[in-house]
Amino acid sequence: MDQLKRQAAARALDEVRDGMQLGLGTGSTAKHFIELLGERVAAGLNVIGVPTSEATRADAERCGVPLTTLDEIDHLDLTVDGADEIDPQLNLIKGGGGALLREKIVAAASDRMIVIADDTKWVPTLGRFPLPVEVIPFGLGATRRAIEKAFAQCGVSGQMAVRKAKDGHVFVTDGGHWIVDAQLGRIADPASLAKALSAIPGVVEHGLFIGLASSAVLAGGDGIRVIERR
Ligand code: 5RP
Repeated sequence: MDQLKRQAAARALDEVRDGMQLGLGTGSTAKHFIELLGERVAAGLNVIGVPTSEATRADAERCGVPLTTLDEIDHLDLTVDGADEIDPQLNLIKGGGGALLREKIVAAASDRMIVIADDTKWVPTLGRFPLPVEVIPFGLGATRRAIEKAFAQCGVSGQMAVRKAKDGHVFVTDGGHWIVDAQLGRIADPASLAKALSAIPGVVEHGLFIGLASSAVLAGGDGIRVIERR
């Protein structure tokens, strides 16, 4: 599986050109991309990156990839990031690694987003992977009730749980927020659900990435498949 992730990352690297301003994703697949990018930088490639998490910042620094912020530059040419699920319209579920807020800000500031993944992430319909919803801890009870209402309006339902870190404490995002993971099973209309969740005051962001991915690079046993958004 790790080899497939690296193959997808290597294919995305072919799209990187000298002088590009890059969004750097988070997760095990994005980490391969950063390592391979670091090798190219060491060989003379001139790029600059915006990391989507503190973990990615640390990886990029370790690999020698120069970094900047979205305050210092006005756009990104390309973002390369992983995903938890990818559907045929290239809608995504992201946030399994907890970085969905910065990932979405960076993807939205980017001219193109390439999603890299092993082909187990490809699904006919989103929802098997629990949908991460990043929330403000204050008023969580009210926010959860509003989320349930939004689910019902969009024809989905399922268990919700506040994400825990490995040490058993509540998982806290880089932005200081919490994540509620919702087991929805099947999301028939992800765009409507995305809109409904975004309208809830205590919701900071959610893991539905609608219309952001330009292409997906999927690595599987039969080789690499590149899918462009129509
Ligand atoms: C982090 C993410 C990751 O891109 C997603 O969880 C995929 O991770 P991995 O490449 O480790 O499977 O959205 O917030």
